[in-house]
Amino acid sequence: MFVKTPATTKIEDETLDTQLRPKTWDEYIGQDKVKQKLNIIIEAAKKRGEPVEHLLFYGNSGLGKTTLAHVISRVMGKGIKTCSGPTLEKTGDLASILTNLQDGEVLFVDECHRIQRLVAEMLYSALEDFKLHLILGKGPMARTMELAVPRFTFIGATTRLSLLPGPLRNRFGGIFQLDFYTSEDLEKIIRRSANILKVAIDQDAVRLLATRSRFTPRIANRLLKRVRDFATVEGSELITKEMATKGLELLEVDESGLEPEDRKILRCIIERFGGGPVGIKALASSAAEEPETILDIYEPYLMQLGFIERTPQGRVATSLAYKHLGIAMPQRDLL
Ligand SMILES: Nc1ncnc2c1ncn2[C@@H]1O[C@H](COP(=O)(O)OP(=O)(O)O)[C@@H](O)[C@H]1O
Ligand SMILES: [Mg+2]
Repeated sequence: MFVKTPATTKIEDETLDTQLRPKTWDEYIGQDKVKQKLNIIIEAAKKRGEPVEHLLFYGNSGLGKTTLAHVISRVMGKGIKTCSGPTLEKTGDLASILTNLQDGEVLFVDECHRIQRLVAEMLYSALEDFKLHLILGKGPMARTMELAVPRFTFIGATTRLSLLPGPLRNRFGGIFQLDFYTSEDLEKIIRRSANILKVAIDQDAVRLLATRSRFTPRIANRLLKRVRDFATVEGSELITKEMATKGLELLEVDESGLEPEDRKILRCIIERFGGGPVGIKALASSAAEEPETILDIYEPYLMQLGFIERTPQGRVATSLAYKHLGIAMPQRDLL
């Protein structure tokens, strides 16, 4: 039975991510400028026999930040430890991770804009001089102790650069933005994934999936997998364009790559707020979504397509959004 699930299923994402994640520079498709600059930093560090400088990657979810961190650790021939900002609850959590690192190892912290303030403060000195300043005891008996940690490379990832504390931002040797992918690169990614998953797919179907993938590799992979399920249920060995079209229809992914949730946000702005401007909080509560989900998942792509615009007063639906949904735009907005 072909089960329709929201394309944002988290667990499916994570297994797919690890299965399809590129391991080398050659497999890491696109983002050429970022790759070039990183290569120089890495090769220089290797020549000097030092760990790579601390690096920050920012950009939307699914564009390859985590993957980059893994590729770098591999190219350096060093291990990688990973965690996420919100899971570092106490300074002790960070201290134990840092003291257990090997020399030159990569510490990858996802969502690093969400590190607690006290933990972040401890991290600053570790990043700067590879020392931890620990406070032992309480009150008048309290003393500080300095503890050296191995020289490591910190790699941070964030979807929201603006929320990153200044002192953390200043401690990165390189800050790189990951962009949306071109259709050409997405086609390469889909073909590579189809190979790994042993899926037969024709070029027209590859192209169709690429145009519906929101310029994002993770989504390209997810659509490929869902369409493969559909083809299997239909008893087809090869994913053709027709098969892919039917599968995407069932998933309710439209020709711009919008899913029901995206269209709900657009409709909400248009139908409940007269096309906007509407503030993020009002929009979130009206659409029954978290403001963060709108900011991180829906909005970047809707803005990229030119369906919504941000103004100081809030979000506004553009004429393209009206057209896409087949809703007549109120006359006054056309002025
Ligand atoms: N440049 C790339 N080339 C090929 N596949 C990629 C690339 N970037 C991401 N992917 C695919 O997309 C998935 C999600 O990437 P990930 O690094 O987890 O994104 P992020 O950490 O930015 O959310 C990966 O598992 C991988 O399969
Ligand atoms: Mg990630």
